[in-house]
Amino acid sequence: MIEIRHLSKQFEMKDGPFQALEDVSLHVEQEDIYGIIGMSGAGKSTLIRCINLLEEPTWGEILIEGKCIFRRLKDVSDPKAEDQKFVRLNDTDLRKLRREIGMIFQSPNLLMQRTVEENIAFPLEIAGYPRSKIQDRVKELMDLVNILDKAHNYPSQLSGGQRQRVSIARAMANTPKILLCDEPTSALDSLTTTQILDLLWDINQQYKVTIVIITHEIELVKKLCSKVAVIDNTRIVDQGEVGQVLLNPSMEITRQLMRGKIGSEE
Ligand SMILES: Nc1ncnc2c1ncn2[C@@H]1O[C@H](COP(=O)(O)OP(=O)(O)OP(=O)(O)O)[C@@H](O)[C@H]1O
Ligand SMILES: [Mg+2]
Repeated sequence: MIEIRHLSKQFEMKDGPFQALEDVSLHVEQEDIYGIIGMSGAGKSTLIRCINLLEEPTWGEILIEGKCIFRRLKDVSDPKAEDQKFVRLNDTDLRKLRREIGMIFQSPNLLMQRTVEENIAFPLEIAGYPRSKIQDRVKELMDLVNILDKAHNYPSQLSGGQRQRVSIARAMANTPKILLCDEPTSALDSLTTTQILDLLWDINQQYKVTIVIITHEIELVKKLCSKVAVIDNTRIVDQGEVGQVLLNPSMEITRQLMRGKIGSEE
């Protein structure tokens, strides 16, 4: 579903390039719930933002469902070879890609002047969804995330968990194949976290959506994820089935993360 090959990302800074990711390769299969864990600043958000090209990789290759959406290879032996050519989507294809990949963040950036139902309708309006069908689709989505009773509330009139539900409904509006989640529960209490995780689980099971989730919470990985990758200082140092990576951690960084130092700057 998602294939990342030898991805590197440098940010150009005044005092020279800053390396945020180095030679990252990752394979996410359809219907996986794939966790990404690592210390603060390791490069997790940068990696997830590369998947829908919110961030352009410096080097590497990204394929979604077998289709190359980005390629810039460091070593090109034959510039004319199909599988070595530079690839960057045009604006139309990029918009189409973003409809297939929903994204949710730690703090949902909802439109404050719009109600819950208007927030959820927004991506449908942008995508040119038939006007007559928007209302039914919005109801369906509000039902999915169990927020029908707050349809007319504004974001300021919602709890943190409810706001996250709205952002999940919004991310699901265009029936994406992939849902990228950047620490969706780290601002929530444990009960609300469990509810959001249950919701993500249902979405994965019911709609066969592939989920990539960044988290600081090791318990979340154990509960929700089928696979996990550990990022340490720009590189993936461990990846595989959750049982294999976490129950018998081979890397010191994984053991550190499991001891609860996760997310700290140490
Ligand atoms: N736009 C940017 N310009 C320059 N440097 C950046 C930019 N975005 C991220 N970085 C740097 O890249 C590194 C990785 O950042 P990233 O946000 O991916 O970390 P993270 O693993 O998500 O951390 P956290 O757990 O704190 O969210 C950091 O050192 C950060 O300062
Ligand atoms: Mg981050």
